[in-house]
Amino acid sequence: MKELPFHIETLAIHGAEQSEQNQSLNPPIYMTSTFTFTDLQQADDTFSFKRKAYVYTRGGNPTVNLFEKRLAAIEGGEDSVAFSSGMAAISTVLMSLAKAGDEIVAHRNLYGSTFGLTSRLLPSFNLPTRYIDMTNLEEIEEALTKDTKVFFLETPTNPSMEIIDISAVAEIAHQHGIKVVVDNTFASPCFQRPLNHGADVVVHSATKYLSGHGDTLGGIATSKDEKYIADLKFGYMCELGGVMSPFNAWLILRGMKTLPLRMKMHESNAIAIARFLLGHHAVKRVIYPGLEDHPGHSIAAKQMTGYGGIVSFELHGGLDAARSFVEKLKLLKLAVSLGDTESLVEIPALMTHRDYPSSELEKFGFTESTVRISAGLEHPEDLLADMEQAL
Ligand SMILES: Cc1ncc(COP(=O)(O)O)c(C=O)c1O
Repeated sequence: MKELPFHIETLAIHGAEQSEQNQSLNPPIYMTSTFTFTDLQQADDTFSFKRKAYVYTRGGNPTVNLFEKRLAAIEGGEDSVAFSSGMAAISTVLMSLAKAGDEIVAHRNLYGSTFGLTSRLLPSFNLPTRYIDMTNLEEIEEALTKDTKVFFLETPTNPSMEIIDISAVAEIAHQHGIKVVVDNTFASPCFQRPLNHGADVVVHSATKYLSGHGDTLGGIATSKDEKYIADLKFGYMCELGGVMSPFNAWLILRGMKTLPLRMKMHESNAIAIARFLLGHHAVKRVIYPGLEDHPGHSIAAKQMTGYGGIVSFELHGGLDAARSFVEKLKLLKLAVSLGDTESLVEIPALMTHRDYPSSELEKFGFTESTVRISAGLEHPEDLLADMEQAL
């Protein structure tokens, strides 16, 4: 395991700090598409790699670059590529690791658009995905074929909060020359660093906890393999074009300074919500990896340093009860997304996960009436009072 030079609280603020010519405490936003040359000789030296300089923001920008280096520092990676959204990061990474005729093996429960990408879009380019239950390691061995090039998983998963043993999956993958990509959006690098458990690439929707304020979209992919990251940037991101805006990079850098502090509060609010729901007669099942009866609890305790800020649950009374609950809430907002200061609630089958076939949801680990709450940073008593009146 790579030793971090500082604790994550320090790295989230100072990681990859640059000496700024005007000694500004915060990084400037280089809001420019292009960078100039003094003469053709300088241009020639730059294009022939004799001189290292910024040329065009799609290929590199100092503000975006700082975000890439800082995220790598807190994920235990060597370098990263930032993207315009989490989906741009996921689609570009998958296309960089698997080609037409290859196969992806993914855990069955994924964010809805990731399921849409892998079940509809990539197969139309002759790149199919096989969905399995990766909590069962035997299923992984059985699913492998000579064409499998990538394992893709989230842990905890969205929305069913399943926990997958990253080290065990990576061990199987590497015996067969397969790359492991982990979507670490739910845990954030504060609670889980998949690269230190053998993952080859970590992706994030930076829109969520990294930004933390629900005011920007962003994505990022990071790895310990610097050569892969250079290829991902110049061979794929630059060509496909899902580049991050310097302004969004600046907003996410601003958000990241408080990431460790926020994650602690998101988690303590999630624990308060999970306990409250557990004790409520209207609630049928609470799914939170911090609960001892969660099937993945012991793996979560081993590979995570916190259980995160998302709680899923089922109400007695199914979909009607779930609908009535979310519509009666006043403080918790009915919305997609997660990881914001505001607590957000949704019914994934009706909202973020509509890409899944409605008649087969249980096969993918959730139901039509699963409710997902992203615990925000409000006072827990106010959140529980709102939930109590809605229940
Ligand atoms: C786990 C996970 N991965 C990826 C994404 C996609 O990110 P974005 O909306 O930034 O494209 C989301 C969005 O909700 C998500 O929850």
